[in-house]
Amino acid sequence: MAQTHTEKVIEVHHWSDTLFTIKTTRDPNLRFRNGEFTMVGVEVDGKPLMRAYSIASSNYEDHLEFYSIKVQDGPLTSQLQHIQIGDQLLVSKKPTGSLLWDHVKPGKHLYLLGTGTGLAPFLSIIKDPDVYENFEKVILVHGCRRVEELTYQTLITKELGENEYFGNMVKDKLIYYPATTRDNFITQGRITTLIETGRMTSDIGLPDFKIEDDRFMLCGSPAMLSSISELLNSKGFKETRKGEFNEYVVERSFVAT
Ligand code: A2P
Repeated sequence: MAQTHTEKVIEVHHWSDTLFTIKTTRDPNLRFRNGEFTMVGVEVDGKPLMRAYSIASSNYEDHLEFYSIKVQDGPLTSQLQHIQIGDQLLVSKKPTGSLLWDHVKPGKHLYLLGTGTGLAPFLSIIKDPDVYENFEKVILVHGCRRVEELTYQTLITKELGENEYFGNMVKDKLIYYPATTRDNFITQGRITTLIETGRMTSDIGLPDFKIEDDRFMLCGSPAMLSSISELLNSKGFKETRKGEFNEYVVERSFVAT
């Protein structure tokens, strides 16, 4: 049996020269949990060329969404960035991953820490009503180099709050905290620095991190993941391991090509 579904592209949105979003049809048999990733790609010279992509849509939506960088000499994204409505996209039938909100111990505040396209799995998670039912606050932190990379703001700051089913919970519980490192912006600095200096918690009006209350999900480049893990470890938080749920989870699959 084929390992992939062939989906049809229904929308392509180019945010900038370096970032774009693809929406496709969704085979009704594709099951996944919000926060998971799957292999996505196209056929090149008769062979599938696939990379791991977080699914940016939620598991109850009837389309699939993927958020990608464009790397001019990247084997896959150099091709994918030219994809058009009606084209085919290969999507693996086996989504997986570790960014699951119930794979951390119960807590009060769920921090979603993403840099660049590491935002993608959190777009799925912030549309999940269970997340709001299980945490008092959900804090989406998006760190980017440039202001133009702070994408999806209309969804995050407007559309989610208008959702007829869970909009009120979003208004009450979702805190969006964007930051840049290389452009002038109200919040400037790496996530690590914003945490270390206490600026992030003070800006959003939440207490300093506490083991009993705070939970984290991390998605970004390997360097970002290791810096933030190190920082959380130094504060006594532990990463979830197989069979042992702790205070934070990390996604190590990240498309860079
Ligand atoms: P910086 O501009 O200082 O490198 P990238 O596009 O390289 O994945 O970076 C996305 C964002 O993540 C940038 O704001 C970048 O900051 C930041 N970043 C890169 N490495 C780290 C790290 N080790 N810890 C925290 N943030 C990082």
